Amino acid sequence: MVEQGISANSPIGVFDSGTGGLTVVRQLRRLLPNESVLYFADTGRLPYGTKPQSQVREFSLEIAGFLQNRGAKAIIIACNTATAAALSAIEERFPGPVIGVIRPGAQSAIAAAGVDGRIGLIATDGTVSSGVYDRELADLGLRNELVKQGCPDFVTLVESGLKDKAAVQDAVKRYTEIFRNPPIDALILGCTHFPLLNEYLAQELPGVKLIDPAIQTADNLKQMLEERGLLADLASEAEYRFFCSGDAGTFKKNLLRVLGRDDYPVEHVAW
Ligand code: DGL
Repeated sequence: MVEQGISANSPIGVFDSGTGGLTVVRQLRRLLPNESVLYFADTGRLPYGTKPQSQVREFSLEIAGFLQNRGAKAIIIACNTATAAALSAIEERFPGPVIGVIRPGAQSAIAAAGVDGRIGLIATDGTVSSGVYDRELADLGLRNELVKQGCPDFVTLVESGLKDKAAVQDAVKRYTEIFRNPPIDALILGCTHFPLLNEYLAQELPGVKLIDPAIQTADNLKQMLEERGLLADLASEAEYRFFCSGDAGTFKKNLLRVLGRDDYPVEHVAW
């Protein structure tokens, strides 16, 4: 059933605290090239990972309302911290499909490592302490305990464009120590900013499968849209619009870095 005012060609609303969610947009663009996207980056209030869950939930509901008012047909919570804090609250209020990144991330990890595999998680402190990945993986049958590491410095390094390579290498070394002995089979990049560190992580953890939840998220969303008759026409041309609560110039630089384009419209939103 299509909601009033919403059509299959309405945009998908996507949000994150900042640049990280663009790793999800990257997968959407690959899998669903006809879908339009409205993206909200809450760069003025970032980081989310060190804030109390109640506050992240409040911010997330505000943004979901913003996207709904602009005609979003579906919402992707392209942020693990916000998924942990607000998935069910947004599902209760938003009439269309809502998807977070945690269940898809857990599904991909199980597919890669199996239920007897050793799985690691790097995420924000908020996501790690929520225990949501532990619960999702246990639900999917994981028999081993999840090995977890909070990595607050990664978010700041990614937002500032990974300019200081030595600082990035140092942080990656420090945060991956826990996964070396005993070694893990797969590592969930449980913060949407972290796939942007892939090459550094692969260097430190050779042989470990790096799991980017964004890929499965795009797959799952495609299925949800298909089931509800909400997939955009193949003839429709995708339109991308970006909003941010922080500096628009800085966000444009990050758009270029992640999506390879900086000619998309970016609007600053003052809350
Ligand atoms: N990208 C967000 C996530 O997936 C969090 C970054 C932040 O701490 O703001 O958890």
